[in-house]
Amino acid sequence: MPRFSPTIQIMVKAAQKVARGLARDFGELENLQISQKSPFDFVTSSDKRAEKILCEELERARPGYSFLTEEGQPVKGKDEDKCWIIDPIDGTHNFMRGIPHFCISIALEEKGEVTHGVIYDPIKDELFYAEKGAGAFSGHQRLRVSGRKEILGSMISASHFSRDPKLAPIRKKQFMDMFDAGAEIRKFGSAALNMAYVASGRLDAMWDTGIHPWDVAAGYLLVKEAGGFCSTLDGKNKNPVHSGEILAANANLLPLLVKSLQK
Ligand code: IPD
Repeated sequence: MPRFSPTIQIMVKAAQKVARGLARDFGELENLQISQKSPFDFVTSSDKRAEKILCEELERARPGYSFLTEEGQPVKGKDEDKCWIIDPIDGTHNFMRGIPHFCISIALEEKGEVTHGVIYDPIKDELFYAEKGAGAFSGHQRLRVSGRKEILGSMISASHFSRDPKLAPIRKKQFMDMFDAGAEIRKFGSAALNMAYVASGRLDAMWDTGIHPWDVAAGYLLVKEAGGFCSTLDGKNKNPVHSGEILAANANLLPLLVKSLQK
């Protein structure tokens, strides 16, 4: 079993503490308070409670770091170069509908580069973690992206569509082009877990748009440390965590997917 570094240990401890409450809340969904941020974006009482606990735990262990979180305002710590990027529940829509597919995602970004990432699925009790230069793991297992070389037959997680009248036709075309090229398309509803699944070779690739850094920061490092690559959909920005879109795959598929998405 790989030894957790002290920073990964802190992140895992915080995620597991929050997971117990989330699993309990998931079993009592009738008590969940839900508010709507926008027509398709929700926040639950569980998101807020989980985020508060995560921030308290991480601040206690590493005082003074900055925070970028899904439900709160960005916080500038004394140490501006180190920032926790947190999604207390990635897959909120699944969570609130009783679909057991969501996770806690925590990343540490140092001087603009993600150095540590933890993704924990509390229902399946699956922990994924990565540290820059030290590899990506799930439990005892070292993770490797798949070796698939062509889109035909690849298992690929697709972006959600857009309701913006300018973007909607582009997103639909991207989806249809991928389908026409023979991809086995999936849409699971958690960008972070999609990335963990690319890192572990369960999925060959994923792309998503309209996303936020907290959806993909930890997953970005997992994919890279598992031997994969991430970029914007045009393939140009290789550190797309803050770009609002992401494509992740192995070295063979990435250029083929860029070509398909740019048609
Ligand atoms: C969402 C999920 C979804 C992605 C959305 C995200 P949330 O995160 O990751 O898969 O397509 O863009 O906003 O709201 O459940 O934390």
